[in-house]
Amino acid sequence: MRKPFIAGNWKMNKTVSEAESLVTDIIERLSDVEGVEIGVCPPAIDLVSVREIIKNKGIKLGAQNMHWEEKGAYTGEISGPMLKELGVDYVIIGHSERRQYFGETDQSVNRKVKAVFDYGLKPIICVGETLKERKDGKTEAKVSSQIKAALAGLKPEQVVEVVVAYEPIWAIGTGESATAGQANEVIKGIREIIEKNFPGDAQKVRIQYGGSVKPHNVEEFMVESDIDGALVGGASLEADSFAELIIKTASIYQG
Ligand code: PGA
Repeated sequence: MRKPFIAGNWKMNKTVSEAESLVTDIIERLSDVEGVEIGVCPPAIDLVSVREIIKNKGIKLGAQNMHWEEKGAYTGEISGPMLKELGVDYVIIGHSERRQYFGETDQSVNRKVKAVFDYGLKPIICVGETLKERKDGKTEAKVSSQIKAALAGLKPEQVVEVVVAYEPIWAIGTGESATAGQANEVIKGIREIIEKNFPGDAQKVRIQYGGSVKPHNVEEFMVESDIDGALVGGASLEADSFAELIIKTASIYQG
């Protein structure tokens, strides 16, 4: 069985001191939770302090972006070896905000995904359609081309370590989530594409849903057959709501 994975994407929120107090509060609320992998993805500048606080607490550390080159003249960028040395486990790659505001393409996403593995990290690869694409019936085409491009050239043993986050763009930060049924259908489609390209591996790949996941709706998503957790933005910025999401997920998987 795939272990559910709930990751908090803090985006560009929390100074170092705010990050320290948030993660301390999260740990306090989650000390007895089992059966769910938990991750926090703070801004790069917070990674060192957060890593110190979550050490040996069973919480994974994620970065929100990474350059594909090992080092060099790329002002403002952060490399895999830098993240690896810090003890980072995951890197979010290709979030729709990075594609929309920072010009990331399927090609750059693929280069980054490969580099993430080269440096011993694991990617959380984000895919998802716009509202227009959904209305035009192009959801499946969009998401499958994104996933095929992102995984191109990976080895099967890498593919099984990938985490995919299906995030319909129209549901991110809008309070309007996809229905659980809609999300599960798309996620099943993603699994079929992975199976077609990497036969025998798709059942092992964890696929999260993301987009306005909140304590009041998380259970609807987590009971679905193919949804293996969530990538959570807004609701991960408060310890109470993030912990509640995780506790509800744990109870579904245990019960
Ligand atoms: P949201 O963000 O939960 O605030 O909708 C999700 C994401 O962008 O990862």
